[in-house]
Amino acid sequence: MKTKIEFKNNFPSVKSFNGPCLLIYDLYFENSHDESMKHMKDWIKTFQYRIGFQSGEELKNLASFPEKIEKILSLVSQIAMKDVQIIGLGGGSIGDFTGFVASILKRGLPLVHIPTTWLSAMDSAHGGKTALNVTGFKNQIGTFYAAQKIILIKPVLLLQPQIRAEEAFGEAIKIALLTGKELWTSFSKMKSFDNSVAWKFLPKLIDGKYKIVNKDPFEKKGIRHLLNLGHTFGHVWEASNNLPHGKAVAFGIRAAIEFSKETKILNLKKYNDLNKTMAIQLLPTKSQLVQMMKNTPINIQPYLIKDKKISKKNTLRFIFVQSPGKCPIKDVSIVDIQKFYNKLQGQN
Ligand SMILES: NC(=O)c1ccc[n+]([C@@H]2O[C@H](COP(=O)([O-])OP(=O)(O)OC[C@H]3O[C@@H](n4cnc5c(N)ncnc54)[C@H](O)[C@@H]3O)[C@@H](O)[C@H]2O)c1
Repeated sequence: MKTKIEFKNNFPSVKSFNGPCLLIYDLYFENSHDESMKHMKDWIKTFQYRIGFQSGEELKNLASFPEKIEKILSLVSQIAMKDVQIIGLGGGSIGDFTGFVASILKRGLPLVHIPTTWLSAMDSAHGGKTALNVTGFKNQIGTFYAAQKIILIKPVLLLQPQIRAEEAFGEAIKIALLTGKELWTSFSKMKSFDNSVAWKFLPKLIDGKYKIVNKDPFEKKGIRHLLNLGHTFGHVWEASNNLPHGKAVAFGIRAAIEFSKETKILNLKKYNDLNKTMAIQLLPTKSQLVQMMKNTPINIQPYLIKDKKISKKNTLRFIFVQSPGKCPIKDVSIVDIQKFYNKLQGQN
């Protein structure tokens, strides 16, 4: 099924959903006292059936899932109609949770995503991956369940403070590095990443993600694995140090660039050239990475072992950077990843 993507300058009316729907939304909007949220709050109230949850990793926690699904189920039963649309309004945590719910409720209900963070708008809402966390380890269970529609509403996305754009930068530069070509040429010249830059690049970044996803929608051919650039280390720091996902990925991409140089996949000239580009200069520097790693665990093997891509031989498929548009995937033993990690950690 092809996901329909709509860009809107205004809030769509409930009627435009053409049928019964249940809105699952981030409670943040309802609880905010900020005047700028008024329109959003009023719009949420126009959905007769709605339920709000606190966003974040706890929402994706399997242990608290039964209680939440019971509440949702009782609402869906009140609507008492087949094909109730499930609408997720929020960032990536709301999206992952809502997508999972839609995929299992009544063996699958139509899903609409309305992403409200840059990270979800450019990345997590697209491609149909849903996920829950288990005992503190991220995304251990989930389904492939693409949304029928993804609606990107400009005034909603522009509500975000600058910090959200900074958090999304890791995923944005990941897509630009993987795509290369014209996208990299324009992206690499950016001097800062704020709401207006993020809105401007949004269609091209989404396009870049679908170019990869459409070649391997169910992650069977290994192509989609490219989207894990920066995530091997990123997921460790997200779990161990509670870093926001996008920030952890930004550090992870810096680490992947350093690992690529160390293994000579990225030659010194290309490494230096890459580091001269404006966009790469918005990533954490090597010394900021080393500094951050002072407070991270020494042994990361327990985290790496949780990686879904680990092979029987205890190797991981690591995504290196050779040049923009050329990011080779290679099997690396977790012992070698650990060695590189400890070498970085020991640097001053
Ligand atoms: N399914 C996928 O393919 C995929 C890909 C990447 C990341 N993810 C998941 O996405 C999650 C991270 O996404 P996220 O950073 O959007 O997280 P999030 O949903 O936790 O949102 C981050 C914060 O932004 C706030 N927020 C949401 N919309 C806002 C708005 N318009 N204005 C101001 N604040 C707003 C939220 O209340 C929250 O505090 C992680 O759980 C990650 O695993 C999934």
